[in-house]
Amino acid sequence: MTASFESRIAHYTNRVENMLDSVLPAADVEPKRLHDAMRYAVFNGGKRVRPLLVYAAGECLGLREDTLDAPAAAIELIHAFSLVHDDLPAMDDDDIRRGKPTVHRQFDEATAILAADALQPLAFRVLADVRDAAAGCSAHLVRIVADAAGSIGMTGGQSMDLAAEGQSLTADEIEYMYSLKTGALIHAAVICAAALAEDLPDDRASAIDAFGRTIGVAFQIKDDILDVEGETEVIGKRSGADQRLGKATYPGLVGIEEARARCDSLLRSALEQLDDFGDDADSLRWLARFIVERGN
Ligand code: IPE
Ligand code: IPE
Ligand code: MG
Ligand code: MG
Ligand code: MG
Repeated sequence: MTASFESRIAHYTNRVENMLDSVLPAADVEPKRLHDAMRYAVFNGGKRVRPLLVYAAGECLGLREDTLDAPAAAIELIHAFSLVHDDLPAMDDDDIRRGKPTVHRQFDEATAILAADALQPLAFRVLADVRDAAAGCSAHLVRIVADAAGSIGMTGGQSMDLAAEGQSLTADEIEYMYSLKTGALIHAAVICAAALAEDLPDDRASAIDAFGRTIGVAFQIKDDILDVEGETEVIGKRSGADQRLGKATYPGLVGIEEARARCDSLLRSALEQLDDFGDDADSLRWLARFIVERGN
């Protein structure tokens, strides 16, 4: 791959959005309000970082892009479900997401809960429908995404995040919580591609695995830095929310400068994992840098 990954972002975003559009029931199918809310949760301006990681990891491992559409869409559906719940009054009680009213503000709480409930099984339906050459991988992909979404992944991390409100955690405890609440889905995005690669040597699979784990933690530290430094209009969510809620965050514990330094050091370790892949990993490198340098 010679041209920069940046020039392919629109292409990949389009691919995953077409897939999402094709699997989500139309908004005029009953129950209309529920389907409308599900679509609102998915199609409201997300960066699509997790799908992009699936495609970039696929490029790195020489996979056909059509085999990547299902895991890309499934992981984005789980991510969208997690955001709808994350914003509920019982959790972070946010009223803006991606610059628009959160799902429970635009609709109502019960509809938001149900829309998220319905996005989750849809993700597994997408993976169950994997056909052709990748069909043998379907159950493997289901397992990866189930672990990443469940109590040993994102949901477990969210539980720890809530339990930690008003508490003081160590840096290691915070990073462990991040590795679950946010890292698990990001890690799943890259290892789904590895699961689809035939005859991937163990050392390469481990390197991809470690890359995913490391950049996932960096992603959440950057999210927390943006919560402190970003402007609501730019980040599309209310800035300063973590401090208001007494969240245990990395910048809250060590300050912005040290948090930035930790993010940079995680980026360096993530990039080191890609050393043996040569140019094939340029897209993953680009995305890793984007994750720690992004402005929203
Ligand atoms: C926000 O994720 C929630 C976290 C896990 C930190 P993103 O920053 O990827 O959100 P969107 O999808 O682009 O809105
Ligand atoms: C969210 O972390 C992680 C999820 C699993 C959704 P945050 O609560 O910091 O995410 P934002 O800032 O609301 O997007
Ligand atoms: Mg939260
Ligand atoms: Mg939140
Ligand atoms: Mg945040």
